[in-house]
Amino acid sequence: MSDPFTLRRLTADDAEAFREVRLEGLRLTPQAFTAALSQEAILPLEAFRERMETHHVLGAFDADGRLQGVMGLHLSDSPRTGHIGQVWGVYLREAARGTGLARRMLEQLAETARGRVEALELGVGVYNTPARRLYASLGFVEMARLPRVVRVDEVYYDEILMRLAFPTAQTP
Ligand SMILES: CC(C)(COP(=O)(O)OP(=O)(O)OC[C@H]1O[C@@H](n2cnc3c(N)ncnc32)[C@H](O)[C@@H]1OP(=O)(O)O)[C@@H](O)C(=O)NCCC(=O)NCCS
Repeated sequence: MSDPFTLRRLTADDAEAFREVRLEGLRLTPQAFTAALSQEAILPLEAFRERMETHHVLGAFDADGRLQGVMGLHLSDSPRTGHIGQVWGVYLREAARGTGLARRMLEQLAETARGRVEALELGVGVYNTPARRLYASLGFVEMARLPRVVRVDEVYYDEILMRLAFPTAQTP
């Protein structure tokens, strides 16, 4: 049976709901993010509205219309680095975990990126077994281990850089 969530791209009108979930993630799992609650909590709503427009942020809503999961995709127009899309801000509220939603959302995000970039990239904590398993099961490959990427208080967390390469069309 499929999960009961509705997925769609968030717009500027979802900025308030996004901010609530985003700040919850930064508060409850600070080690999972390179962004800090102290910096994002003071941003005006306008900054989140803008982010919904400059990034492709996918949201998952439960049957009551509450936002339960978010993940972001940034596609850059840089001629040097624009061939690689960045996945960021992967966060599901507790109630939405273990339901298959994370996989469904990431698959949808990958479909959005396919044909527009050659690969997707993300960083994941070495300790983060559920996230690493999720990414690996979708074809993300571990490229490098980066030491001490995130610091929470005095504790440092290593990250794994992972990539999902999209097969490019072969010229006959
Ligand atoms: C990361 C996150 C999105 C994953 O979603 P989830 O619903 O918890 O993931 P799932 O329950 O589908 O688990 C993913 C995989 O890890 C496995 N897994 C889950 N917990 C595990 C554990 N403690 N040990 C080993 N494997 C585990 C699951 O069995 C599943 O593997 P499978 O598909 O082979 O069965 C979610 O946990 C989350 O939001 N965490 C907090 C923020 C975060 O860490 N974000 C990632 C930043 S890179």
